[in-house]
Amino acid sequence: MDKFRKCFLSFFCDRLNTEMEAAAFSVDDFGFTFLEEGFSARDVVEQKINESSMSDDKDAFFVADLGDVLKKHLRWVRAMPRVTPFYAVKCNNSRAVVMTLASLGAGFDCASKTEIEMVRSLGVDPSRIIYANPCKQLSQIKYAAAQKVQMMTFDSEVELMKVARCHNDAKLVLRIATDDSKAVCRLSVKFGATLKASRLLLEQAKDLGLDVIGVSFHVGSGCTDSSTYVQAISDARCVFDMGAELGFNMTLLDIGGGFPGSEDVKLKFEEITGVINPALDKYFPADCGVRIIAEPGRYYVASAFMLAVNIIAKKVIMKEDPSSDDEDDGNYDRTLMYYVNDGVYGSFNCIQYDHAVVQPILHKKPKPDEHMFPCSIWGPTCDGLDRILEQCQLPDLQLGDWLLFDNMGAYTVAASSTFNGFERPDIHYVMSRSSWQVLQQIRTQGPPSLLEESCPSGMPACCGRESSLELPAKPCSARVL
Ligand SMILES: Cc1ncc(COP(=O)(O)O)c(C=O)c1O
Repeated sequence: MDKFRKCFLSFFCDRLNTEMEAAAFSVDDFGFTFLEEGFSARDVVEQKINESSMSDDKDAFFVADLGDVLKKHLRWVRAMPRVTPFYAVKCNNSRAVVMTLASLGAGFDCASKTEIEMVRSLGVDPSRIIYANPCKQLSQIKYAAAQKVQMMTFDSEVELMKVARCHNDAKLVLRIATDDSKAVCRLSVKFGATLKASRLLLEQAKDLGLDVIGVSFHVGSGCTDSSTYVQAISDARCVFDMGAELGFNMTLLDIGGGFPGSEDVKLKFEEITGVINPALDKYFPADCGVRIIAEPGRYYVASAFMLAVNIIAKKVIMKEDPSSDDEDDGNYDRTLMYYVNDGVYGSFNCIQYDHAVVQPILHKKPKPDEHMFPCSIWGPTCDGLDRILEQCQLPDLQLGDWLLFDNMGAYTVAASSTFNGFERPDIHYVMSRSSWQVLQQIRTQGPPSLLEESCPSGMPACCGRESSLELPAKPCSARVL
């Protein structure tokens, strides 16, 4: 039996035996509508916009393609057959997303009682949850214990003492620090023990009679340097060896998140996995008895969500000194300010919290010779901070026109507020019938054969791969779909 086949079979059996107790949800439970043959999520956006044209109700809205989440899962299974994903709920806690991943047999990284509650309410077994927050409130550790959630991370002695006090059955995972200096969102400034501290912590855990089952790390969200994973995997090996010296039976490696969720990034998903797989084989070979999991967040959801916002106000700013402009046509001496009905206190909080750079897509195709103006785009609240884009090039748009933003699924809806009384946009979930069939197939039979070159029945041949998108130049211009 070749190595790849062996690897797949062990992954497949592992999944069937321990994780494929996925609950059966109906289409109504998910709350999605089927995409008719030949229609895409983008067509649904168009349809919603057309429907709104007859009324004044032009609220911002999302269209989320759950089939895209499924494609990501198939892509994951193909790229990293040894690594079981535990979806990081914090990234997008929409019930339909979590349900999709629960149906696919994924595990879940929960950061709090509320996230555990939500995942458990969908019938997910506690063995499929890791409470991956190294600094937990005591009462929430008690809740995890009551829910029989055993796996949890720690990186300090105080955390060990809290766990020793109220969770006898905890299976602890030591979070180590990484060099995340090149990540878009750094996490190791706040979390993670050094190698030196790890030995002390293992000794303290031993003294307290606690069970340490493994090591976790996070290379930072939006990782731009795949060698960080390699270093972290090698560091994890050191900690496993320390654990063995102290008599721990360590069997879990958690390689965290940091994987890209769209194609508009420098470091592509397969480039990262192409580096991770050999590192895992080197430091944690398939027969070493260590189970490997990860905590992907943005990877699963970023590209599934498209946001449509409406222009609710506009200002034309004339240049103070038009004569200084080369172009002396009166049309060219102005900049435009567009105000739309979602902003940085809402779905665009990703600009502040996730360092996101967003790029508008024009809903109405401009004429080939249409003049573009320097523009800025603002959210609806009364705060001056509520700016979505400082500079971009757009045509002369009118009130009621729409702008679209894609790749809006990660760290958007999960952290948006209703500041100033602006409601969160509705989310319209869609899925194609073929994706639904594949989802049911996976739920009942496990993931499709990795040895099949083609995609499972009904999936487009390119499943799991989106078309490339260009990185926006600064100042960005609107794209037209
Ligand atoms: C502990 C932990 N795991 C996983 C994630 C998800 O990271 P990503 O969205 O980069 O995959 C995060 C993000 O902050 C995290 O803090």
